[in-house]
Amino acid sequence: MTAIAVLGSTNMDLVAYVPRAPARGETVTGRELRTVPGGKGANQAVAAARAGGDVLMIGAVGTDEYGSRLRTNLVHAGVDTDLLHTAAGPSGTAHVVVDDEGANSIVVIPGANGTVTSLGPGETAAIAAADLLLLQLELPLTAVTEGARSARSRGVRTILTPSPVQPLPSQLLDCVDLLVPNEFEAAALSGCGEPHAAAEMLLRQVPEVVITLGPKGCLYAARDAEAVLFPAPGVTAVDTTGAGDTFVGTLAVALGEGRPMPEALAWASSAAALCVQRPGASTSMPYRSEIDAA
Ligand code: RIB
Repeated sequence: MTAIAVLGSTNMDLVAYVPRAPARGETVTGRELRTVPGGKGANQAVAAARAGGDVLMIGAVGTDEYGSRLRTNLVHAGVDTDLLHTAAGPSGTAHVVVDDEGANSIVVIPGANGTVTSLGPGETAAIAAADLLLLQLELPLTAVTEGARSARSRGVRTILTPSPVQPLPSQLLDCVDLLVPNEFEAAALSGCGEPHAAAEMLLRQVPEVVITLGPKGCLYAARDAEAVLFPAPGVTAVDTTGAGDTFVGTLAVALGEGRPMPEALAWASSAAALCVQRPGASTSMPYRSEIDAA
């Protein structure tokens, strides 16, 4: 089994389903509100566990009611939460608007996630024992960088989802093996709107890049090879929240199992396609049997 450590966020997602997202200054009437466990870190952990990984989550939840629900959700998915700390105060929340095309926009309030500023010996040992470390940017950059450096010093492969996108220090990028931005994040980090050009720029900083392109698939680029576009399965999306996290969690399991990158990307794309056909974040992530069947 692939041992995966996730250093990342847990959020309670407060999801408003609306015909279309409101413009600035506008009020729209939505159809429904759902409260669903999410957070990029927790989503990747759940996706990886359902895909067959042996997953451990490093992070923090709050002392509010959401905190226990977020922890229970991970435990039910089979994720080890021994290093998911409980910090006094509220848990992280994400305020998500999903429109009729399944597209979303999200505001994240870090809450307990913001208390994870550094790692202790337990966290460092857990990272060292893993095959892969998954990182995103919903924890303070100090902890993310420390985690990446710790993984690099022990030869643990690192995958970074640069979201919410922000300028990244070279101390962090130097320790990233695979960067997985979406199209928007790739453009913001590289200054290039066209994915091939963005990938070429990003390869100056990391050895491998996968740019996720939603229904168009994903673009894989490595320093020693031609960039390749992998198409996504054609499906009708109802909610794209967590699709990128599903992709990364599943990809990590496949890579940890030693599958070649094209096969791993196809498997991860199938998982993401299943995710977008269901509402919610961690609630929509597929199990290994479903991904294999797809
Ligand atoms: O990537 C999707 C996630 O982003 C949501 O679950 C939300 O919590 C935000 O962190």
